[in-house]
Amino acid sequence: MSDAPITLALSKGRIFDDTVPLLAAAGIPVDPEATRSRKLILPTGDPGLRLIIVRASDVPTYVQYGAADLGVAGKDVLLEHGGEGLYQPIDLGIGVCRLCVAAPLGFDYAQAVRRGARLRVATKYVDTARQHFARKGVHVDLIKLYGSMELAPLVGLADAIVDVVSTGSTLKANQLVEVEEILPISARLVVNQASLKTRAARLEPLLARLAAAVAGPAAAGSALAGGGSGVPA
Ligand code: ATP
Ligand code: PRP
Repeated sequence: MSDAPITLALSKGRIFDDTVPLLAAAGIPVDPEATRSRKLILPTGDPGLRLIIVRASDVPTYVQYGAADLGVAGKDVLLEHGGEGLYQPIDLGIGVCRLCVAAPLGFDYAQAVRRGARLRVATKYVDTARQHFARKGVHVDLIKLYGSMELAPLVGLADAIVDVVSTGSTLKANQLVEVEEILPISARLVVNQASLKTRAARLEPLLARLAAAVAGPAAAGSALAGGGSGVPA
């Protein structure tokens, strides 16, 4: 069995910030300020576990190819990636939002769809959006963007967008409204399928502690004491 530490891929920002308390509850302290150093490989309080810092949309790729054993990624990112080579055992209940179609206030999206109009839709979730509109029989031209999707309808780049929405304040600030929910989103723990077999002795207890941390303090106490697997099927 490899002596290398287990590697967990995280993205900076909300995923890192929301995962650190879960790791702490699983008995693995991480310095919450650690990403300030600009180091991309970070230690944890457990010498057997290290973190790597990658772009949110790159997390599944690092785990798929085994450069990381584990990762934390939003369901939106996983859908767009396709999930090949990844086992998704735990919904971490963080990064909660929803993937939506949004359009400018005053644009009658439902009527445009009814009359079979061809819509220009800007998004970074091109494959997911293509599948959604194909299922609904809506004709779309998709325009790939990497951020600030809400701007596209305001400057005539698109009729509508597909993006994640949480409080709705970004849509509101840009005079957009949600016209269709595609699916609810939260962040998942993803595991390299080969690692799960070859490094089971080290990964399974870690997964059990994380699952218990997600379930709450009582379950986390029992997993830290060695009770129950806690890993959902
Ligand atoms: P990349 O740098 O790869 O483009 P990103 O900028 O989308 O990624 P984050 O903004 O940190 O990265 O988002 C990471 C994940 O958090 C998203 O994939 C999504 O699942 C979730 N998320 C995005 N926006 C919100 C939000 N406003 N509220 C809650 N969760 C969100
Ligand atoms: C995300 C998303 C929306 C916003 C939605 O942006 O792309 O713009 O959050 O959240 P709200 O409904 O609570 O306003 P983020 O804050 O991550 O900025 P970025 O995509 O530009 O990194």
